[in-house]
Amino acid sequence: MFENYKTPAELLPSDPRFGCGPSLIPVEFLEKLAATGNSLIGTSHRKPAVRKLVQEAQEGLTKYFNIPSDYQVVLGNGGATFLFDMIALGLVRKKATHFTCGEFSSKWFKSSKSVPWIEASEVSAEFGQGVVAENVADSDLIATTLNETSTGVQVDGLPEVDGDTLLCVDATSGAGQVPCDISKTDVFFFSPQKVFASEGGLWVAFMSPKAIARSKEIEANKERYIPGIMSWDAAISNGEKNQTYNTPSISTIFFLNEQVKLMNEFGGYEKAIEYAEKKAKLLYGWAEEKPYLSCYVGEDKFRSRAVATINLDDKYDASELIKIFEKEGSVNGIDAYRKLGKNQFRISLFHNVKYEDLEKLTKMISMAVES
Ligand SMILES: Cc1ncc(COP(=O)(O)O)c(C=O)c1O
Repeated sequence: MFENYKTPAELLPSDPRFGCGPSLIPVEFLEKLAATGNSLIGTSHRKPAVRKLVQEAQEGLTKYFNIPSDYQVVLGNGGATFLFDMIALGLVRKKATHFTCGEFSSKWFKSSKSVPWIEASEVSAEFGQGVVAENVADSDLIATTLNETSTGVQVDGLPEVDGDTLLCVDATSGAGQVPCDISKTDVFFFSPQKVFASEGGLWVAFMSPKAIARSKEIEANKERYIPGIMSWDAAISNGEKNQTYNTPSISTIFFLNEQVKLMNEFGGYEKAIEYAEKKAKLLYGWAEEKPYLSCYVGEDKFRSRAVATINLDDKYDASELIKIFEKEGSVNGIDAYRKLGKNQFRISLFHNVKYEDLEKLTKMISMAVES
């Protein structure tokens, strides 16, 4: 169907990476890393050079998100998936309620559910619809996902929770450009391979005093076995010393720090939110205007400002067009989430994906379909 398609030179995006994670890492970051020569890579994470880098990232994030001064920025190995289990084992007393609307939020729910002493319940929305978390009177932990990367649904506001309840937010693909008041959350965590333009394998968590107290309470109760690698105590005390508990990937922290600096220089969180909004308007506006496209997420307030999911009429095969783009090297990573099985494009609106490149991508797709 699209076999004669070829992108004209003037429409080629400046970077072909439109994937929703791992995301576009600017080539300049690689050059900056190379310029560190023998001063960073291959040195110990307990020594000043790496600790200074970790400290810079912690301080940069604190400034960017305006994190309250009594919160701690903690880092560790294993990514957000690791935290699903670490939160279940180390922060849930007895009852957790999960608000789910896609693959990742469901996976997190399964982590809690598989712990024998946790009563885990789920409030779920159909895929493509949004869910708004609420306080649940007898739950000691509420779990919600800021941006569901699988479906392109973002949350619309967070609840006020009871005094002793923890509100935990998986912000993996939304952190940095989907609005969120950190002071309302107790654990706000993410992996940095999305908006924060780094690689996978790391988790970052902003923890409130209430969350830190809960972790200490549970760890002090020796009845519960918690694997050493999942100890919040170890993670928090290392974080205070600008370290991770075990050896991290230094390049991952380096890229994260570069992106935090870039986004602070860009004008901070508010400006990044505005830029994301502008890109989202472009894509959703285009999807609404073209008869062969539609927004997968019905309600505008739930349409992600980080991951746009756009359906293509079944007369055309999105995967065929994606293959052609990949073959010519013009665009990659815009496939629908593999388990969703939709005839769809899933397009990253992450900070480093330029508005002008998204504009070109919309023209490329329209040109392919309309010719
Ligand atoms: C919302 C969300 N949560 C969790 C994860 C898992 O992150 P990781 O692969 O770093 O464990 C992802 C990955 O894409 C995600 O998008």
